Amino acid sequence: MTLQNVFPWILRAQQEGWAVGAFNANTMEQVQAIVLAAQAEAAPAIIQISHRALTHIGSGNEILGIKYIAAVGKIAAESVTAPVALHLDHGTESEVIQAIALGFTSVMFDGDGLPFEENISITKRLCDMAHSVGVCMEAEVGEVPKPDGKEFDEAAIELTQPDEAAQFVKATGIDTLAVALGSVHGLKSKTVSLDLERLQAIRKQVSIPLVLHGSSGVSDNDIKQGVSMGLSKVNVATQLAQAFTGAVREVLNKDGGLVDPRKYMSAGRNAQMEVVRERIRFIGASGKAK
Ligand code: G3H
Ligand code: 13P
Ligand code: ZN
Repeated sequence: MTLQNVFPWILRAQQEGWAVGAFNANTMEQVQAIVLAAQAEAAPAIIQISHRALTHIGSGNEILGIKYIAAVGKIAAESVTAPVALHLDHGTESEVIQAIALGFTSVMFDGDGLPFEENISITKRLCDMAHSVGVCMEAEVGEVPKPDGKEFDEAAIELTQPDEAAQFVKATGIDTLAVALGSVHGLKSKTVSLDLERLQAIRKQVSIPLVLHGSSGVSDNDIKQGVSMGLSKVNVATQLAQAFTGAVREVLNKDGGLVDPRKYMSAGRNAQMEVVRERIRFIGASGKAK
């Protein structure tokens, strides 16, 4: 299929109590692992590309990165019959504009650190642009930290305030809202609990689908409950990177003389595909594209 606007699937997921998985990719093999898993599970899925992934893919030039991945994402989506979207994850203002122009079907503006009113005005402008060409728009209120392996102050995490969330959604017209419920990006084990009372309070004031960031560090029990309460897009990155890199490491450790990249990259692709399939099943998306 051509790249899809996945918003109708996210809306359906919200109504039926499951979630669409959004899976981060940094390489072509990781993109392939996602679409192959979506196909094997007959599930809608989102390939998502972060700011740092764009820089990597474009060898330091993120606009080139957007061009590369727009082409790769399009071909990957067309290689399967499952509905697949290409999403910009945690984009800057200029990246969102470029991604919309170059064929992404979904974008997130990350206004992290901006004053609330400024976050609203930029998000609204980008949202109008996205909607004018049928692209799905995500933005965030609160902060899911990205400590990148460094120490951080848990007490300083800015959790989403229900009132602010409602005001933001009304003022911007976004399709989906990323909320901060205590998760943290990049954790290598599932040790974090979500503030589910806060989720319930947000849900009372915000009717659009909500997005969970940093799912790799969240206990599966809380993900399950959160999905049933309206977290209708679940972002997964670190778990995939762990599977991919773990398989590559195993192949290289077994054969110190190996030089053919196809041998270890295909092992990484297969291992990641299995984790994407497991996550698709876990959030209830398996079979939904039938
Ligand atoms: O939210 C972003 C994902 O966790 C991937 O982040 O590509 O900056 O490592 P990264
Ligand atoms: P994890 O790396 O914790 O899975 O977070 C993914 C994410 O939120 C991408 O936006
Ligand atoms: Zn994120």
